[in-house]
Amino acid sequence: MKISIIYHSETGNVKKMAEIISKACLSIENTEVELMTVERINTKFLQESKVVFFGSPTYCGNCSWQIKKYLDYHPKELSGKLGAVFISQNQLGGGGASFAAISIISELLVCGMLVYSSGIAEGNPILHFGAISQKAPAENSLDYNRCIKLGERVTLKAFDIFK
Ligand SMILES: Cc1cc2nc3c(=O)[nH]c(=O)nc-3n(C[C@H](O)[C@H](O)[C@H](O)COP(=O)(O)O)c2cc1C
Repeated sequence: MKISIIYHSETGNVKKMAEIISKACLSIENTEVELMTVERINTKFLQESKVVFFGSPTYCGNCSWQIKKYLDYHPKELSGKLGAVFISQNQLGGGGASFAAISIISELLVCGMLVYSSGIAEGNPILHFGAISQKAPAENSLDYNRCIKLGERVTLKAFDIFK
C-alpha cells in the first residue's frame, strides 16, 4: 500500500508532524511511504497511492494558500483515494487549526476523496478533524501521540477499504 504525505512547512513544524505520521504508517506491514513538500510532488508515486495525507500550518485561521492552491488545481489526481489531514498552529486553543483542517477536508471532498480521521470512534487520543499540534510535537507528548494515532488508524482503515 503506497501512502503519500504532502505538506507545506516554512519553519519545520509541519514537516516534523509529517515525519512522525510517516513512522506510524511504516509501523504497519506492507506500507510504502513518500514524504513530499507541496512544492515538489512525486506524481508517479502519488498516482499509485491509495492514501494521501495533507499537512499545513495555520495561516490567519485557515490552511496555507500553498496547500489550497495545490488542491484547487489537482482535483482529478486525488479522486477515490483516502485522505487525512494534519495541522500545526501557534496559539493553543483558538489558533484556528480546526478550521484549517475543515478547509482542507472540504477541498478533499470536492476532489472526490474519501476522508477519515477516526474521530471519537477509537478513543483517546480523539482526533476530531485530524491531528493538530502546537508548533512541532515534542517527543512522546499528546501532540506526538495524535500524529502516531492518525498515521496508524488511517493506514489500517485504508487496508480495510481497499482490500
Ligand atoms: C502568515 C502566518 C500566519 C499565521 N497565522 C496563524 C494563526 O492564525 N493561528 C496560529 O495559531 N498560528 C498562526 N501562524 C503560526 C504557524 O501556523 C505556526 O508557527 C506553524 O507551526 C508553522 O508551521 P511550519 O513550521 O511548518 O511552517 C501563522 C504563521 C504565519 C507565517
